[in-house]
Amino acid sequence: MNAKLKVGFIGCGGIANGKHFPGMEQQSEYAEMVAFCDLIRERAERAAAKYGTADAKVYTDYRELLADKSIDAVFVLTPNVSHAEITCAALEAGKHVLCEKPMAATEADARKMLEARDKSGKLLTIGYQYRHFPVNQVAKRTIDDGWLGDIYYAEALYLRRRGVPTWGVFTDKSKQGGGPLIDIGTHALDLTLFLMNNYEPLYVVGTAFEKLGRTLDAAHQGQTRRDMTPDAWDPDTYEVEDLAVGQIKMKNGAVIDLKASWALNMAEDAGAFADAKVKLCGTKGGLDTHTGVVRLNHVVAGQLAMTTIGKRVEAYIPGFTGGKPPVSLEHQIFVEAVLGKRDLFVTADQAYVVTKILDAIYQSSRTNKPVYFD
Ligand SMILES: NC(=O)c1ccc[n+]([C@@H]2O[C@H](COP(=O)([O-])OP(=O)(O)OC[C@H]3O[C@@H](n4cnc5c(N)ncnc54)[C@H](O)[C@@H]3O)[C@@H](O)[C@H]2O)c1
Repeated sequence: MNAKLKVGFIGCGGIANGKHFPGMEQQSEYAEMVAFCDLIRERAERAAAKYGTADAKVYTDYRELLADKSIDAVFVLTPNVSHAEITCAALEAGKHVLCEKPMAATEADARKMLEARDKSGKLLTIGYQYRHFPVNQVAKRTIDDGWLGDIYYAEALYLRRRGVPTWGVFTDKSKQGGGPLIDIGTHALDLTLFLMNNYEPLYVVGTAFEKLGRTLDAAHQGQTRRDMTPDAWDPDTYEVEDLAVGQIKMKNGAVIDLKASWALNMAEDAGAFADAKVKLCGTKGGLDTHTGVVRLNHVVAGQLAMTTIGKRVEAYIPGFTGGKPPVSLEHQIFVEAVLGKRDLFVTADQAYVVTKILDAIYQSSRTNKPVYFD
């Protein structure tokens, strides 16, 4: 192991610049950014110049980056469909891997990643940063302290009234594997399974709708991001669902309703950066995170009571915090785990269950049948 971890990045686009480069910059005491790869060379060059060591290397072929034996860990930050191939190759090359969410586009691909991890003995984690958000950590603590009792119903929501991501390849089915379900529903489901600490699905039934995506209006945010204005994209290229709903029955009898949309005619205008929201109902109490804080509903002195816990705080993501330098827990945890100081927080086994469920919802939608798990 090097004195400082040597880290390489594969994919230097939106999430690399918004989350991982600034996040790893905060780990400079322990890790250095030595290699950058992107199919678009200028993106890798720009990243190397801004974040890399003086001798940072630039590649357009990820295999060349992986051939550098001095690199300890890599970040896989490319479109969904390529996660499995690149992650497996990285693990086989002896690197620890942080791969962006979702783990993979299909259950079969995610399984290959688990196998590659087990064979290599290296670490593999997935970029589910919502778990670190203060509101969700408060929710976890509330649940673990027993305020909900036995959780038997949950809603996992990531709903945008209008908010098709019109940059990158998000609407290209061949590169992403699907639309809002695999892109943002994946966060809501991961969060819900994590809060319930339940990774044993029995069956799912689901439907993916293609109703509003192929209209210019679908990208309307009421926001001013230049790259998200309706005229910046061609709605005819839209190939994925715009709303997906799924019901997941767990082996212990609990039910999760999952809903994810990029365009849906609903009153709430959640905006492009609407968070993953959860509602959890248990035998003693319930909670939701819809207002950005934990609202616990319970019974006190025989009366229905509502307790608000914690205050709204910015998320622990460098890119989304208005320039303030919060600690990026995702990167701190990954670095500490690679250094052998702690266990990973988001395990690939947990992320595998998320991908297995999402894949099954798409399958259920195609076949009009529920999908049972073994
Ligand atoms: N955690 C989150 O909240 C979050 C948010 C956005 C995106 N993501 C995930 O991050 C991944 C990338 O999304 P993005 O928004 O950064 O997309 P993007 O299109 O902005 O960036 C992807 C980059 O990867 C490059 N690339 C594609 N294939 C490559 C290959 N084989 N080798 C090297 N480079 C390659 C592209 O040229 C592009 O620059 C996706 O899986 C997405 O789901 C996660």
